[in-house]
Amino acid sequence: MTLADPSIEKLSVRLRSGTRLDHDAAQGSGFLDALAAGTLPRQAYADLTAQHWFIYETLEQAAEAMADDPVAGEFVFPQLTRLPALSDDLATLLGPQPKLSELPATQEYRERLRAVAFDRPWGFIAHHYTRYLGDLSGGQYLGPAIARAYGLSGAGHRFFVFEGISPPAFRTGYRDLLDRLAFSPGDEQNFLAEVTEAYRLNIAVLSELKERWV
Ligand code: HEM
Repeated sequence: MTLADPSIEKLSVRLRSGTRLDHDAAQGSGFLDALAAGTLPRQAYADLTAQHWFIYETLEQAAEAMADDPVAGEFVFPQLTRLPALSDDLATLLGPQPKLSELPATQEYRERLRAVAFDRPWGFIAHHYTRYLGDLSGGQYLGPAIARAYGLSGAGHRFFVFEGISPPAFRTGYRDLLDRLAFSPGDEQNFLAEVTEAYRLNIAVLSELKERWV
């Protein structure tokens, strides 16, 4: 057995290397880059924010449902909660009572969350990781770029700003939590497959947004 042996590599490392291609597909979907470059109308950014609102509403309901779970509860951090920031952003972008329309891919995403994230730790953690660790990684570049592109300062891009959290320190602590998970081999497989599924669902939302706006 060597240090490179996959059977002893940490889960956070295997997760990251095992989903690198999924991540690159999500990153390369084009819609986010176009927003960051400011080549799309402001309504396109409002539409992304609306889809996020639907997704985080369900994800954060799952966090409430899982708060007392001995395994998943370790991943429930109230300071990550994004729904109030998203509501605030929508009010800035679309006015006080915005009419939101949910894309079919967003509906499918929420159905998957309802199926696996409310009572299965591997399902909840897979979806939690894909969104929040992404928001605390690439999101930290994307947020300022979008703010610059659409002339926003504070209001309108609160989703990207995590008050009271240092993203690099949080990411390190989060990976430690992942590495301390004691999943059965079956549940670990379910977890890794669900992260790929979460990326697929995100890519589908981004593709529908791209079809509508690009
Ligand atoms: C323009 C789009 C994007 C850019 C520029 C971007 C960029 C990045 C960067 C620079 C990292 C950090 C890699 C490292 O620590 O070395 C990262 C990590 C991550 N991103 Fe993205 N990303 C984008 C889109 C997405 C999307 C759409 C998702 C999923 C919804 C996502 C999910 C993640 C996750 C979960 C991580 C953490 C990986 C890990 O360390 O385990 N990213 N991203």
